[in-house]
Amino acid sequence: MTGARDPFDTPIMRILLVGNGGREHALLWKLGRDDPSAAFFATRPNGGMAPLVSPVDLSPDDVDGLVEWAAEHAIDLAVVGPEAPLAEGIVDRFRAAGIPIFGPTAAAARIESSKAYAKDLMARAGVPTAEYRTFTDLSSAEAYVREQGAPIVVKASGLAAGKGAVVCPTMDEAVSAVRAMLSGHEFGSAGDEVVVEEFMEGEELSVFAVADGEHFVLLVPSQDHKRVGEGDTGPNTGGMGAYAPVGIATDRVMGEARARVFEPVLRAMREEGTPFTGLLYAGLMLTRDGVKVVEFNCRFGDPETQVVLPLMESSLLDLLLTVARGESLSDARVRWKTDHAVTTVVASGGYPGSYGKGKPLRIPGEVGLENRMVFHAGTRFGQGQLETSGGRVLAVTAVAPTHTEAARLSREGAALVEFDGAFFRGDIGWREEGRDG
Ligand code: AMP
Ligand code: GLY
Repeated sequence: MTGARDPFDTPIMRILLVGNGGREHALLWKLGRDDPSAAFFATRPNGGMAPLVSPVDLSPDDVDGLVEWAAEHAIDLAVVGPEAPLAEGIVDRFRAAGIPIFGPTAAAARIESSKAYAKDLMARAGVPTAEYRTFTDLSSAEAYVREQGAPIVVKASGLAAGKGAVVCPTMDEAVSAVRAMLSGHEFGSAGDEVVVEEFMEGEELSVFAVADGEHFVLLVPSQDHKRVGEGDTGPNTGGMGAYAPVGIATDRVMGEARARVFEPVLRAMREEGTPFTGLLYAGLMLTRDGVKVVEFNCRFGDPETQVVLPLMESSLLDLLLTVARGESLSDARVRWKTDHAVTTVVASGGYPGSYGKGKPLRIPGEVGLENRMVFHAGTRFGQGQLETSGGRVLAVTAVAPTHTEAARLSREGAALVEFDGAFFRGDIGWREEGRDG
């Protein structure tokens, strides 16, 4: 192992985390358990990460700055949370500088950064997904929408911070969505190309694979809760909670995801000269006709990571290092706890619309238990006092032998968190409750 040496000449692994949200806090928590002696560095860490890392005062998007910083600081492994630096080519740049980094190249990250690329790739690889057409021209897009009828889904092709998909129950809504993207530039250049696709009905599932470009291991399946309100009502958010494992993700379903989604996509990417290394996230819809892909992401999901990693018994660090060093995952095995995990996001009043920041935040000691963790997202220290700095402030993850118990513990923990305007969904995992027992 290369790396800096401490005064006692013990090799200490130096790990850089790029990103500062709840997902990155969960990555830090898990990697810190995998190697308690490692030294961690993170870009502008949130209030929960700050006590555990050396801060790097660079934006997670500052690819030039980060390459230079990592080379100077003898980093052994960089792990990238968010999609933006991946789409910008941070992995290509680190590799060129000889610094091990976990993530896909910019070419492979297009699986998330360009929905048009992802859809065409799925068509080439024969992966089941919604029927679709891509358009840059308004009149052809409108004509297609009218021909197809509602319900229908309109998406900005580029990165739109999770807000680029509009599910349209009526044709009028679909026509307005297409117009807003192609002529109103609602999503800036991300909407210069739109994907119009078939509406799929079914329950959603998030499945993560750690891939070395050829082989992959699947992580435990989870389910996100995107709507802000209980009972899945109200506008979409970045995610209000998640749970894992998911009862409907049976061995048969996971086998189908492996054989019909991950194997063909990874094979096609390799054959086309853009092998995927890193975390491939498939957002799946379990339809009457089987598993179909809603979207791919080129990174860990947030808040799914906050329930997947606490269930992982074996080392995540070993998997990430194997991939970052260009080695093979062919012999990799992952061990899981038999427990269930539920995470509840505590958000700031107004979210996902506008919300205040800088509100004093109190997390009573009893929130954190042996099996209950707080993963910070939008928090910071202002004059020594913890305060909010974002819409999704933190997530409370509980791990327990049953889903029902984990959900109860997570909810009770979330209720103890205090700041002005704090709110959370008290029903995370409600679909699973219905299936429990
Ligand atoms: P995306 O930005 O592609 O992840 O889409 C955001 C959300 O919109 C998804 O999680 C689904 O709930 C919904 N959605 C996207 N595409 C479709 C589709 N073709 N049919 C039904 N719902 C969809
Ligand atoms: N949980 C949705 C996402 O990470 O994109």
